[in-house]
Amino acid sequence: MQVLHTKNELISLIDSFKKEGKSIGFVPTMGALHEGHLSLVKESKKNSDVTVVSIFVNPTQFNDAEDLKRYPRTLDKDVELLEKTGCDVVFAPAVEEIYPEPDTRKFDFGYLESVMEGAKRPGHFNGVGQVVSRLFDIVRPEKAFFGMKDFQQVAIIKQMVKQLNSPVQIIPCPIVREESGLALSSRNTLLDDEHRKNAPHIHATLKKARGMASSLSVNELKKWIGDEINRNPYLETEYVEIVDDTTLKITEDWKEPGTKVACVAVYAGKIRLIDNMVF
Ligand code: PAF
Repeated sequence: MQVLHTKNELISLIDSFKKEGKSIGFVPTMGALHEGHLSLVKESKKNSDVTVVSIFVNPTQFNDAEDLKRYPRTLDKDVELLEKTGCDVVFAPAVEEIYPEPDTRKFDFGYLESVMEGAKRPGHFNGVGQVVSRLFDIVRPEKAFFGMKDFQQVAIIKQMVKQLNSPVQIIPCPIVREESGLALSSRNTLLDDEHRKNAPHIHATLKKARGMASSLSVNELKKWIGDEINRNPYLETEYVEIVDDTTLKITEDWKEPGTKVACVAVYAGKIRLIDNMVF
């Protein structure tokens, strides 16, 4: 496995793979890797000749300076895990390598960025668009793999690829959970013992709610989910939405066509967790 830190090194390595006719699978990450990330690497390996993983904590997608500062950084451990998983290339650039100058591009993701994470974290998806488009330009993958825990991010990136006329195929991959039901997230490592013990209540609530969807209206169920999560003194719900899985349109009535996804953002102390479940 090669670990590269500069764009130019990676560009020439990718050039050589392309000359040999090899297909490139790409897994962009911000590091602090867990089994969720490794499942993306495994999926990429199944579907590509060469798997590239980037590790880059992208400053432009953080709308909270404290969140950026405390984001876990564990490069040596990440590299070890990737080596064991059979990754071929790790790209771990410095900020100046990706942004030699500030990126002033403004994406317009329209309605998709007006709800949930887009509404609560202004500028977040613009930053995601900036970094993912730059990484795609460098890595030039045929396929890129993203976890469905960041359900709205997947919708935004699909839209970005369309807008930029990019040939990259976006492959969404299932959420990986602990046995307790807690969705794996790099942010879980920031939880103290009490919050960690209580965080599985988020998934447990969504699971219970799924079984109640036939007996309550959409709005009643949303309220029930928020109240049920907040009943736990270690958790505070920021939003609960039930949306269409492709348009992200907020569901008003169960009779509306399409698959519905329940999405939540919850504070466990200072740490903000998101989760979702197809209903
Ligand atoms: O999902 C993430 O970890 C990040 O948003 C991504 C896609 C790596 C861009 O920084």
